[in-house]
Formats: sequence, structure tokens, C-alpha cells
Amino acid sequence: HQTSITLNNGTVIPQVGLGVFRVPDGETTVNAVTAALEAGYRHIDTARVYGNEASVGEGLRRSGVPREEVFITTKLWNDDIRAHRAKDAFNESLERLGVDYIDLYLIHWPADGWQQAWSDLQDIYASGRAKAIGVSNLHQHHLNDLLAMGGVKPAVDQIESSPQFTNQELVDFVHGHHIDVEAWSPLGGTGGDLLASPLLARIGEKYAKSAAQVAIRWHIQRGVIVLPKSVHADRIRQNIDVFDFELTADDMAAINTLSTGHRNSADPDNFDF
Ligand code: A2P
Repeated sequence: HQTSITLNNGTVIPQVGLGVFRVPDGETTVNAVTAALEAGYRHIDTARVYGNEASVGEGLRRSGVPREEVFITTKLWNDDIRAHRAKDAFNESLERLGVDYIDLYLIHWPADGWQQAWSDLQDIYASGRAKAIGVSNLHQHHLNDLLAMGGVKPAVDQIESSPQFTNQELVDFVHGHHIDVEAWSPLGGTGGDLLASPLLARIGEKYAKSAAQVAIRWHIQRGVIVLPKSVHADRIRQNIDVFDFELTADDMAAINTLSTGHRNSADPDNFDF
């Protein structure tokens, strides 16, 4: 059976969610979401900047799965942070998704003005229309600033993490503050060759699992919420078929050695979108 994590405010989140970054709006997203919900996913992670919230909502409705059974995350993008329009942007996301609450609403990136946005997210949280709030792509120093502000503690920090770039120091720091970690690009993202790793294949052979399933299981066993992206129904099904085997401590340690220390994507300290 699927595992869940109880966030620091008591909200329960399924540990594997479908990521839809770079999934084209329209039927591609609708089909990915319906395939995921049919395969048993109950967690979809989107964002305003992905441009596919409306199709995520359409997929949810077409699936026939009741809205309240599905955990939906979306995110506040940088232009809305800079323009101080978090509350309007939140309402617009609700409208595009066609829902009246979000399970988890995140600040997507530490763009200028994110501290004000965090204050706005706390108002949204207080209104009950976001069941939990959190952040994404925050480094330790941003989190230290945020925690010094007092107020609501973020439920999660969603960061780049994969066997190729474990980001383990930040993972440990975030966990140390009783904040959960969500991994984006959990399979190494596009352009990388993590899934071609002979080590992942060899470990997978022991359990009759693919490299992707081994990587996802590694995230689960390190206590991280994992958001694999795929547009292919067979892979979508595969990526949640990870609850009938267990990696050994040796497997886990071997996978950790794959880390190159290099990100796949932009460093939030050196790049703004
Ligand atoms: P596709 O959508 O064509 O399946 P990440 O989640 O780390 O961002 O990366 C996912 C990448 O790996 C995507 O390019 C996705 O491509 C591919 N992918 C997802 N699941 C699998 C799988 N089970 N086997 C092989 N490739 C996968």
C-alpha cells in the first residue's frame, strides 16, 4: 500500500505524487492526470508557471475521483511575488483548477518580495482555502530568515534532489526543522542520464524493478516526498508500483554514491526567472 507523510500541521500527503512540469497543457496533461488517478495516485503537483493548471483540473474531473480524495499542490510564481499579488494569484489558480481549496500552496522560488508573499500565504492558510503552505527552492539561509519571521512554519520545502544530486545537507537541515522535503527532478530530470545508471539497473534486477522504481524507492526510504514526472501511462503506473519491495541499507548507501554534487537546474542563489 502507498505510504503517506503527516506534515507538521497535521495534513496528510501521499508520499508519491505525479509531477507535471513541462507537461504540455491540453490533452497531454489531462491524459497524464487521468492515467495517474486510475493507477492509484492521489497526489498531483502543478504550478501556475507550468501553464497546465486548467488541464490538471480537467483531468481530475474526468477521472471521476472525488476532489477531496486527491492532494493538489500548486505554486505562486515569481512575477506575482514581485508584483505583491499573491492573494489574487492564488484565487486565479483556484479558478483555473476549478477547485475551492488547494491542499498545499507553495512559494515557487525566492524571488524579490518572497517574505511579503509568505505573509500573504499565512492569510490564505488562515482562510482555510489552502490546507497547508510551504516553500520551494529555499536554501538554508532563506529558511533561517523565514523562521526568524515567526508565524506559520512552512510544511515543506520542495527542492531539487535525486541520486545524481542528493542535496543531502539541505535535506537534513530541513528535516531538522520538522519541515518535510519534496524532491523535484527526482529521477534526475531531463537531459541527465541517471536512469541509464548500471548501478540502479543492477539493484533493480534483484527486485524485478526498473532503475526509475529503484530511484523512487530510495526517496521514499529516506523520508522524502517524491514527484516523478512522466507523460507515458506505462511509466506513470510503474512509478507508483514501488510499495512491494524494500532496498537494503547497502543498496541505499550504494545509490548515495551516485551523487555528483552538480545540480541539473538553476541554483536559487544565482538565478532568478
Ligand atoms: P517521460 O515523460 O517521457 O516519461 P524527473 O521526474 O526527474 O523530472 O524526470 C523524469 C524524466 O524521466 C522525464 O523525462 C520522463 O520522461 C522520464 N521518466 C519518468 N518515469 C520514467 C520511467 N519509469 N522510466 C524511464 N523514464 C522515465
